[in-house]
Amino acid sequence: MGVHKLFDFYSDTKTKPSKAMLHSILNRDFGDEQKDEDSTTLELCSRVATLLGKEKAVFLPSGTMCNEIAINIHTNPGDEIICESSSHIINFETGGPSAISSVMINAIKGKNGMFKAEQLLEAIRKPSRYAPISSLVCVEQTANMAGGTIWELEKLNAVAIEAKKYNLNTHMDGARLLNACIKTGVDAETYSENFDSVWLDFSKGLGAPVGAVLAGSEEFINKSWRVKQRLGGAMRQSGVLAAMCLYALDNNISRLSNDHEVASFLGSEIEKLETVEQIFPIETNIVIFDLSDETISAPNLVQKMGEQGFQIGAFGERRIRIVTHLDVDMAAGTKLVEALKIYLK
Ligand SMILES: Cc1ncc(COP(=O)(O)O)c(C=O)c1O
Repeated sequence: MGVHKLFDFYSDTKTKPSKAMLHSILNRDFGDEQKDEDSTTLELCSRVATLLGKEKAVFLPSGTMCNEIAINIHTNPGDEIICESSSHIINFETGGPSAISSVMINAIKGKNGMFKAEQLLEAIRKPSRYAPISSLVCVEQTANMAGGTIWELEKLNAVAIEAKKYNLNTHMDGARLLNACIKTGVDAETYSENFDSVWLDFSKGLGAPVGAVLAGSEEFINKSWRVKQRLGGAMRQSGVLAAMCLYALDNNISRLSNDHEVASFLGSEIEKLETVEQIFPIETNIVIFDLSDETISAPNLVQKMGEQGFQIGAFGERRIRIVTHLDVDMAAGTKLVEALKIYLK
């Protein structure tokens, strides 16, 4: 028995489907997704394609599969893709680009998870008989491991335009794109305009248990279906999941601003602590900070906080990540700060 209900600040992937979300499944029709017979999934794909300003979209079990399918289609074996060094593609997809698509990765060391068009230009391989071919640039909106930072539209477009000058394809990992939209007021279609492929994750701040939708041109999505099938991502009555994603589209987008408020409150309290060496800029729903050497280690703090009924994440010995979402409100945030202050001065 814990001291109180567990507050899970480890990730926005930890949300549980609400009763209303679960009930929404009952009002939907289902069919065989692989045969385009699941009307609920088709509706979700069509709505996301419109939201992102793309011709077509495909439902997938995870954001990771969206990234890996996009990489596979945008490249040929032996090519090189360009990503920022802290990106999910490089750090959390078990080497997927090399294992699935036989491509190399050129990691740009950016700032706050982002890089400039000039850095991209430096990274693009010049035509040569020896070098790999640079064929794809990927960006993450928002940049997770940089603390949920937002690519400014101008910087994003500058990168995409530079990429196109050199015939690179452009892909946006939009796991938290809607967090950026809610924060800045720039719509998802505008952020995605210069990207050949882009996806949304429903199992993060949007609060659905499973599902991501990858969007692009009709040709790109038709090709995606073949890789989806190959990887075992083609489903049957997937409308059961898509129904919850549709519920999330209708009910859980504008409320993302609450998560940003809680994260901003946490940041303002955490930065006052002397035992915190540095805290990353907080723009959306992710708080990342480093503990100073004299204090408790990050894994130790995670364990102690667990004993107090709070899950948070450690990355290495000194770095802590806290993520807000629809299952942790301001009251939970206030309790979290009190508990942190037991161990951090
Ligand atoms: C930026 C980013 N991209 C991709 C993913 C992968 O998404 P999924 O967990 O749906 O595979 C994550 C998950 O945390 C993420 O943060």
